[in-house]
Amino acid sequence: MPTPALAKASNATFRPAYVPVAIFVGGTSGVGQGMLETFARYVQGRAHIIVVGRNEHAAADIIARLPKPADGEADGWTHEFIACDLSLMTNVREACAAIRAKVARVNFLVMTAGYSSFVNIAITSEGLDLHLALRYYWRYVFIHELLPLVKNAHDRGEDAKVMSVLGAGRGSPKRPLDLENLGNQVKPRVGRFTVALRSIIMSSGYTDAMLAHFAARNPDIAFTHIHPGIVRTPTQRVDFDGLLTPLSWVINFILPFLGVSQDQCAEHMLYALFTGQRGLFLVDRYGDPVSAHAFDAPVELGNSEETSVLNGVPMTGYGASDLGVGRVVEHTESATRATVA
Ligand SMILES: NC(=O)c1ccc[n+]([C@@H]2O[C@H](COP(=O)([O-])OP(=O)(O)OC[C@H]3O[C@@H](n4cnc5c(N)ncnc54)[C@H](OP(=O)(O)O)[C@@H]3O)[C@@H](O)[C@H]2O)c1
Repeated sequence: MPTPALAKASNATFRPAYVPVAIFVGGTSGVGQGMLETFARYVQGRAHIIVVGRNEHAAADIIARLPKPADGEADGWTHEFIACDLSLMTNVREACAAIRAKVARVNFLVMTAGYSSFVNIAITSEGLDLHLALRYYWRYVFIHELLPLVKNAHDRGEDAKVMSVLGAGRGSPKRPLDLENLGNQVKPRVGRFTVALRSIIMSSGYTDAMLAHFAARNPDIAFTHIHPGIVRTPTQRVDFDGLLTPLSWVINFILPFLGVSQDQCAEHMLYALFTGQRGLFLVDRYGDPVSAHAFDAPVELGNSEETSVLNGVPMTGYGASDLGVGRVVEHTESATRATVA
């Protein structure tokens, strides 16, 4: 297990010979902010950093405080913000188009923005479950839309890495993906707590599945799904209501004592980001892989129904099967394609 000191020492060796392009979706607060600020410190501001989120003021404040390279030290460094409400896939595609207009390669695509509510289980105006839109679908669309740029980075001999900070390592054969309720809108949406919990659990398994899909087809790129652990961030709260309200008071009082700071978490997340080279990585909160699999060549996954097995290889904490990967990706393509105006 990398200690905080080991993670920091390892991260401090990150000295790319090129000016990295790094995108932090959800970099305006929480784990994403911690990662973006820590990343900028390690490269002393010498990077093209793009922050994506809704809060323009928070982004401006964060960007103003980032270290800036001395004049003439580096060509092409920029720190900028792109506004996007990720709940709508139309917006997500627009943000990706704006990124493609600015950069020809992406070295690090870091996705942290999330959502969790036991009260609001809305369906978006595009017909998607809000939890899944904000925890899963936008991540799929982002990777899909920017993958050519990540490949460009690899083709230049540079880092080419995609990381999703969400809920890795939670899968097991006892909890297979529910392929009869893809999108959480097939079974009746009865009871807000149950519906929300289903979506929250689904989003982790779906993320495993889609990263396995991309890793199998793009063997030269690192796709990491990582769990951040309990982190003291502005949105780290539960919002039970009704009879459960007192329970949420207790949990929200205790949680900050159990969590680490977003900066400490960031060191472990960056440790995993910098050290993972190629393939699929499911990683714990310290940056240690729970399981990993590298493909030697592009692979079409088959129809095996064995959960926690990827292309014949057992994967601890992996929430999908080869059949599940195909079904989830098919569902995602159709659910997010329907949102093209
Ligand atoms: N914190 C924890 O203890 C914990 C534990 C387990 C898992 N996680 C997972 O780790 C990830 C990071 O968590 P976090 O605590 O840092 O906070 P978070 O609330 O999940 O992320 C905050 C970021 O998400 C962005 N965001 C939220 N809704 C958005 C929307 N509709 N459109 C665009 N951006 C949106 C916010 O940007 P704006 O404010 O600018 O919109 C902000 O930058 C999440 O996926 C979370 O589920 C966290």
